[in-house]
Amino acid sequence: MFRSHTCGELRITHAGEAVTLAGWVQTVRKFGAITFVDLRDRYGITQLLFGEDLNSQLEIQPLGREFVLQIKGKVSERSNKNKNIPTGEIEIKVETFSILNKSAVPPFTIQDDTDGGDDLRMKYRYLDLRRNAVKRNLELRYAVSRSARNYLHENGFYDIETPFLIKSTPEGARDFVVPSRMNAGEFYALPQSPQTFKQLLMVSGYDRYYQIVKCFRDEDLRADRQPEFTQIDCEMSFVEQDDIINMFEGLIKRIFKDVKGIDYTDSVERMTWEDAMWNYGNDKPDIRFDMKITNLKFPLHVFRKEDILSNSPVAAPAFQVFDNAETVVAIAVPGCSEYSRKQTDELTEWVKRPQIGMKGLAFIKCNVDGSFKSSMDKFYDAAKLKAIAETCNAKPGDLILLLAGNEERTRKAMSELRLEMAKRLGLRKNDDFKLLWVLDFPLFEYDEENNRWVARHHPFTSPKPSDIDVMIANDPVIHDASKYLEHPYANIKANAYDIVLNGNEIGGGSIRIYQKELQEKMFAALGMSKEESQHKFGFLLGAFEYGAPPHGGIAFGFDRLCAILGGSESIRDFIAFPKNNSGRDVMLDAPSSIDDKQLEELSIKLDMKK
Ligand code: AMO
Repeated sequence: MFRSHTCGELRITHAGEAVTLAGWVQTVRKFGAITFVDLRDRYGITQLLFGEDLNSQLEIQPLGREFVLQIKGKVSERSNKNKNIPTGEIEIKVETFSILNKSAVPPFTIQDDTDGGDDLRMKYRYLDLRRNAVKRNLELRYAVSRSARNYLHENGFYDIETPFLIKSTPEGARDFVVPSRMNAGEFYALPQSPQTFKQLLMVSGYDRYYQIVKCFRDEDLRADRQPEFTQIDCEMSFVEQDDIINMFEGLIKRIFKDVKGIDYTDSVERMTWEDAMWNYGNDKPDIRFDMKITNLKFPLHVFRKEDILSNSPVAAPAFQVFDNAETVVAIAVPGCSEYSRKQTDELTEWVKRPQIGMKGLAFIKCNVDGSFKSSMDKFYDAAKLKAIAETCNAKPGDLILLLAGNEERTRKAMSELRLEMAKRLGLRKNDDFKLLWVLDFPLFEYDEENNRWVARHHPFTSPKPSDIDVMIANDPVIHDASKYLEHPYANIKANAYDIVLNGNEIGGGSIRIYQKELQEKMFAALGMSKEESQHKFGFLLGAFEYGAPPHGGIAFGFDRLCAILGGSESIRDFIAFPKNNSGRDVMLDAPSSIDDKQLEELSIKLDMKK
């Protein structure tokens, strides 16, 4: 028997028992003739006491950090108790020990506050994984997957695996490709998601499917993106949007309960995409706090809200920067009217950073005495400033921040500024969770560069039932690219939904197209010829000829969900072996070159000049 107990298990009630423990040496502290060792395993840390009788053996076999050690001894009450760890009331008086394996000196300390930098920890990830902080994240990840599996099983879902060596599935990113040795010159693609397979399973009659599955996307990486990541991927037949929303709201609430002990009893707010863009400047608003955007000026062809605009308090001629701008938006930041010059200057620099990209920032201080002080005092008199403040619903003591410029950039910048101000005011707390459904996305986006429509979600998403006729009746071709917003396709809404947690998109899905003709129309709208759609999606169009049921589904970003539940911005902390920001596995040193023989077998010649 290697061990009778784990290193996290023994308590004062075990005092006097003979035990055998095995684990890693975290620290060795020598006090005169006695030696204390902290022995660690997955379950915790137990203090060992090596008495004088073991000194000569310790001299022959000295212990070092991360040695694998087995000891036999007696549990005894500690004189100097440690209240910070569950085993802190006891220690083991070691009687015999055996070194099961030695360790080189680890490149960083394996403790909560390690001295190892990111790169070093990734290179030695197997050591990093011994740290409590990382271990807790993987425990949380397992708890989320267990909870999801239980819920889905209880609701009649089958876990069905789908292949990894497939043909391209368009989800908006580049594919990773795998050359085929047996089919020289041909390639598989790794799935960006199991999208078409889960739809085929619906055609096959498996009306509730799920899978916790790897997806592969060759795209630019950020803190919340990895080239291979995991989804909780789900699909159901004979459902409408509300059925999906109810089922998966249930899933996420169950995860909250099982993993965080939170009873999320509030009903989850639902917001249209247009309202999200209008009030928050992005499609995944953080609604833990208010601070909505006020639209003082905006392009009429995007937001058709003429009557609001005609009453705008920033109507020209007044301040050239606003007069010339396509968009003017504002937020009222509570309690910040006493910001100093230095603070407003710093905020101006913040919005000028390349990531935000604005030329400047205007502000109005709504003083508590009812007066106003503004960076635009020269252009707007007190009555105008008051009118702006009223439009922004600002209260005495608020600081109104205004941005002006091109619609897309300005709205995005204001959305970032809103989040930044909330962060500064402590309104974005990690342990405060707020869910939101965003609905009614546009079905299409216009790719101005290539003069064509692209699917905003993916090409299998159905239009809203009321928009199906508009899609069928109209020719997708655009003759004047500058007027694409006037094309009927610009207004078609998708039967799609995203679920947002604390300002992060944690999942998205849609009701699917299940009629062959509509799917063909969709491919044509995306600029695919009949031959091309047959070549790429013949299997799906074929399946739709044999009784495809109405169906829909959703996929959750599993890593993202875990990161948010664990209070982290980075999904890497929740993946056992992640890639770095250049898509490299620094531990394996992958990707790496392969030898000439392998290339030859694959009939591949490299042209490294490019
Ligand atoms: P979508 O592309 O929206 O939908 O992906 C679903 C969720 O997966 C997460 N996600 C990612 N997480 C980490 N790294 C990435 N690179 C990454 N990309 C996406 C996000 C996202 O909400 N097949 C559809 C789902 C469906 O329609 O049912 C799909 O994949 O949290």
